Amino acid sequence: MNTLLRAKITALGSFVPPRVMTNADFEKIVETSDEWIVSRTGIRERHVVDKGVATSDLAVEAAKVALAERGIDANEIEAIVVATVTPDMLFPSTACLVQHKLGIKDAWGFDLSAACSAFVYALQTGAQFIATGVHRNVLVIGADVMSSILDYTDRSTCILFGDGAGAVLLEPSEDDFGIIDFQHEIDGSGACSLYMPGGGSLHPSTHETVNQKMHSVHQDGQSVFKFAVRKMAEICETLLARNNVKASQIDCFIPHQANQRIITATADRLGLKAESVIINIERYGNTTAGTIPLAMQTAREQGRLKKGDLVLLASVGAGFTVGATLLRWTI
Ligand SMILES: CC(C)(COP(=O)(O)OP(=O)(O)OC[C@H]1O[C@@H](n2cnc3c(N)ncnc32)[C@H](O)[C@@H]1OP(=O)(O)O)[C@@H](O)C(=O)NCCC(=O)NCCS
Repeated sequence: MNTLLRAKITALGSFVPPRVMTNADFEKIVETSDEWIVSRTGIRERHVVDKGVATSDLAVEAAKVALAERGIDANEIEAIVVATVTPDMLFPSTACLVQHKLGIKDAWGFDLSAACSAFVYALQTGAQFIATGVHRNVLVIGADVMSSILDYTDRSTCILFGDGAGAVLLEPSEDDFGIIDFQHEIDGSGACSLYMPGGGSLHPSTHETVNQKMHSVHQDGQSVFKFAVRKMAEICETLLARNNVKASQIDCFIPHQANQRIITATADRLGLKAESVIINIERYGNTTAGTIPLAMQTAREQGRLKKGDLVLLASVGAGFTVGATLLRWTI
């Protein structure tokens, strides 16, 4: 058997649609307040698409930024993995639409569904193709248009989410830098805590499913919160212990951005350095598969993510899905 190669991130791009919805905008459409939203979630504003803009559009913009950073032609991409819970359509896959819009020839690809953990799952999936030597350039994108599946009369969910995308390019690493290890878990007993009941094979779209608002996010916020606070820390502890890494050695902690209180509780429990914790939820809300690459971009913009840094990614999402990745940053 060939020796496995290490994959590394060689470029990063992100994109959010220009239109911003602030907490004040929500005060006009549901019974809520800026004070409630900020104190319970940390969110101040989120970006939302205009009508007619879909997940593939955000994904393509983020991918273009990543390709430009690396300075390679789109045709060098051999595989595309799009992490999303809001594909443009149930089929064809958003990966096909992205491939076509970018004009990439001779690539293959697919969508990956793991809700808020989808980016870390897609990252690992792409890394496996690099590890086996099957591909040399894999594009991994996390993109979601959450505004397309929100019920804007349900104050407990609509204020939480935004639209956005991030893309990374994976290539083989020639040194010890790159993706080191990961730990993933799924737990379908949590399926009823966060889900979209309509539009799938169980409840195909009918007038009735539309009338019952089954095509939007349904969430038991407290049970998701409790699970997320426990599991995000647990999965990180397992991953760090297996790699003999102390939390204090992590230079940059980039968690999924669902709720500021989940992030700070996880960071406190792990004993992470305060300056290592990346939070940008105030600007974007929860962009589902987009959050981790968007937070990587925030970390870079703030000068808090540098080549050689030891980075911990962590996520919990609908499913439940749980994931953590340890890597040494390479750009
Ligand atoms: C959704 C969430 C912010 C709600 O916060 P919470 O502190 O748990 O609030 P509760 O659900 O207990 O609701 C408390 C009260 O606030 C009300 N409320 C809910 N949304 C509100 C809003 N936008 N504005 C004002 N009040 C609101 C509730 O109706 C409830 O009122 P009641 O006590 O009269 O019944 C929180 O549970 C959460 O973040 N959960 C995890 C979400 C998540 O991470 N999802 C994605 C996973 S990837």
